[in-house]
Amino acid sequence: MITASHVTSMRFAALSCFLVIPLAISAQESHIGDLTGEAKGGQQLYRRYCVGCHGERGDGRGENAPHVDPKPRDFTIGTFKCRSTPSGNIPLDKDLFNTIGRGLYGTAMPPWLPLTRQQRADLVAYIKSFSPRFVEEKPGTPLEIPRETPSEQDSIGRGRELYQTAMKCSQCHGKEGRGDGPSALTLTDDKGLPIPPYDFTTASKFKCGESDEDLYRVLMTGLDGSPMPSFSNSLKPEQAWDLIHYVRSLRPDFHERVKDAKGNRRPWRWFRSGRSEMTLDHSTR
Ligand code: HEC
Ligand code: HEC
Repeated sequence: MITASHVTSMRFAALSCFLVIPLAISAQESHIGDLTGEAKGGQQLYRRYCVGCHGERGDGRGENAPHVDPKPRDFTIGTFKCRSTPSGNIPLDKDLFNTIGRGLYGTAMPPWLPLTRQQRADLVAYIKSFSPRFVEEKPGTPLEIPRETPSEQDSIGRGRELYQTAMKCSQCHGKEGRGDGPSALTLTDDKGLPIPPYDFTTASKFKCGESDEDLYRVLMTGLDGSPMPSFSNSLKPEQAWDLIHYVRSLRPDFHERVKDAKGNRRPWRWFRSGRSEMTLDHSTR
């Protein structure tokens, strides 16, 4: 039998559901090194700088969203591309912090470096409050990035083999890395929208950072929400470095970046002739 007091407690239970969610939101924090970000401070910044694309509710449906491609991230599902955590995991606070500072090259998402570190930490806390995953889940063990192997001709050769045959990167990214592999036109993101594979020949920057370490992270953790898979179960660390050296070599101006042991630039053919003491010039990238 349902008594009046039952009804009252059920009402209270229903009501507390509504109360609990906003409380969880205002309590959300971020921790980046010695910084602590607060969602409360982040909310104001978000309304000022982010809402136009990512929307009031964080669902990626801001008023500018119809005009941008790819679409702004829907924060309510808690899925992020740039992570140091394994595929399928929520990112570290630091991952989100770095993304906000760096922006996502080739998309409408600009770098937010003019904001202070504290402001960016507050934004991280606020963005986390849109998805219950940040309350319910813990991020998995972050990837450790081992020392890079030398970027020399042998490594590039092994990388080519992995790219073209063993790992089938060419299926999506194309034989010459132009983003035009046999599967390219069929690829969609997790919202069902078409998404092109990266073109290694024309594009000069990457979404989740510029360094070889950043590319290592992409290969080993994948870009969640996109068809770019994680290869952590199929690649040994030295094979991942080989692949990175190979995809870097697909740029037409690659030969200009080849330096000999004394730091002098050398023509591409020197490099191809197997002088393994030569390394890539990372300084001008
Ligand atoms: C002009 C539109 C625009 C504005 C303004 C904007 N963003 Fe974005 N943002 C995007 C787009 C587009 C993406 C998705 C890009 C992609 O999927 O490659 C994105 C993605 C993101 C991501 C996801 C990164 C990942 O790893 O998946 C975060 C975090 C983010 N934005 C934070 C912010 C914050 C914080 C602000 C405000 C300070 C902001 N954005 C303002 C367009 C915008
Ligand atoms: C099933 C198709 C598919 C396969 C297979 C695939 N990729 Fe990708 N890759 C993509 C897509 C799509 C993107 C672009 C995602 C985006 O823009 O968010 C991408 C992006 C990338 C990026 C750019 C990351 C950035 O930060 O911008 C790199 C590097 C990359 N892939 C390397 C590889 C390598 C190396 C292999 C093979 C070991 C591989 N991919 C296999 C579909 C694929």
